[in-house]
Amino acid sequence: MKKNNIVLVGGGSTWTPGILKAMTTHLDQFALNRVVLYDVDAERQNVIGEFAKILFQEEAPEVEVAYTTDKEVAYRDVDFVFCQMRTGGFNMREQDEKIPLSLGLIGQETCGPGGFAYGLRSIRDMVEMVNDVRRLSPDAWILNYTNPAAIVALALDRIFPDDNRILNICDQPVNLMRSYAKLIDHDVNKLEPTYFGLNHFGWFTAIYDEDGNDVAPKIKEIALNGGFSPVDAEQRDQSWLDTYAMVEDMLKDFPDYLPNTYLQYYLYPEYKLAKLDPHFTRTDEVRAGREKKVFAECARIVENGTASDSSVVHNDAHGDMMVEVAASIANNLRKTYIVIVRNDGIVANLPDDVMIEVAASLGKNGPAPYAVGQIDTFYKGLIEGQHAFEKLTVEAYLEGSYTKALQALTLNRTVVDAKKARQVLDALIAANKDYWPELK
Ligand code: G6P
Ligand code: MN
Repeated sequence: MKKNNIVLVGGGSTWTPGILKAMTTHLDQFALNRVVLYDVDAERQNVIGEFAKILFQEEAPEVEVAYTTDKEVAYRDVDFVFCQMRTGGFNMREQDEKIPLSLGLIGQETCGPGGFAYGLRSIRDMVEMVNDVRRLSPDAWILNYTNPAAIVALALDRIFPDDNRILNICDQPVNLMRSYAKLIDHDVNKLEPTYFGLNHFGWFTAIYDEDGNDVAPKIKEIALNGGFSPVDAEQRDQSWLDTYAMVEDMLKDFPDYLPNTYLQYYLYPEYKLAKLDPHFTRTDEVRAGREKKVFAECARIVENGTASDSSVVHNDAHGDMMVEVAASIANNLRKTYIVIVRNDGIVANLPDDVMIEVAASLGKNGPAPYAVGQIDTFYKGLIEGQHAFEKLTVEAYLEGSYTKALQALTLNRTVVDAKKARQVLDALIAANKDYWPELK
């Protein structure tokens, strides 16, 4: 098995310890020669980087481990780029959540005006990353988890249409699958989904077990009877428990398919708005919880010189998925994953240039998506509106167009009112002046 050189972009992230642990536990499936952590934030990178050295020293000493803030070092001679950057960090995530909420609109990392703002920030750094990687490692696979994945995927498809080694992925379908599996007490690795939609905007149409039975009806029945309250497989924090509880509401109203949890913001914006606290958003919750815990724990490990007794490096779905996806490509395993690809006829009644999220077999030539066929009017209508929002967001960035930005926000189901769209756009422009192109 070939030994791979990896760079993890966003190496100072709270998710990194779990990803590193997933690397050391999957060495039999995904062999490693070198792991480099890269981040623009030296302080965060140092803590997690020192932790990485200890973890690998204890669990896989044959793998070379380094960390850097120099992209020339980071991107040289790599086989896989695992990208999970967050332009503007948690400070800007907080703005994305709190500015819309202060104006009576949904404030969320990837949905609505928050996702729009984050999208305009992410595109510039993502384009720079792809150009740098292609200069230094022309054949590397770029596995991108950077958010908002829908907007990032669309922008990269526009800017690098011929680059077929960029794959955009989200862990939410896998997180959901784990939760579903838990509800029916089934091994998640034995379940195979069919799925369609946009990123953070899709539906499971069926979930097959190893005998070929669709278990989605059984999952729906349990979910419709309070199955998700107060249980979910992620168990991150209260806000995630609230999120999973909304699956029941969505199934009551729209029983066809199992929804992605992010649809709650688009289907019930008023209800969700009433539930969100403009002074304590998800960023505050993450800062007080995961961020604090991960950094304190990594510092402790560095001080003790051992990670063997550590709690931050438990196997999480996100890390496992990132490594398993890379393994499926590197070793041509052709396993099924839900990924983001150009539509090109997969959903027969949607345009070719929509970046859809769909199940695909993943091998050395990338994803081979499974056909979906025609989708019904309700779903088609929702997707077309959301795609128009995403497309106008990307075009607003590329053309520096205020008008397109305003059109995008007006189309978003969490905004709708054009006066509110203008108000939130102007506030976001002021907050993002260091990150966005000028919108004229
Ligand atoms: C899920 C989504 C990601 C998102 C993350 C936020 O995993 O798929 O796109 O970034 O949740 O998680 P957090 O715990 O930071 O709110
Ligand atoms: Mn996601």
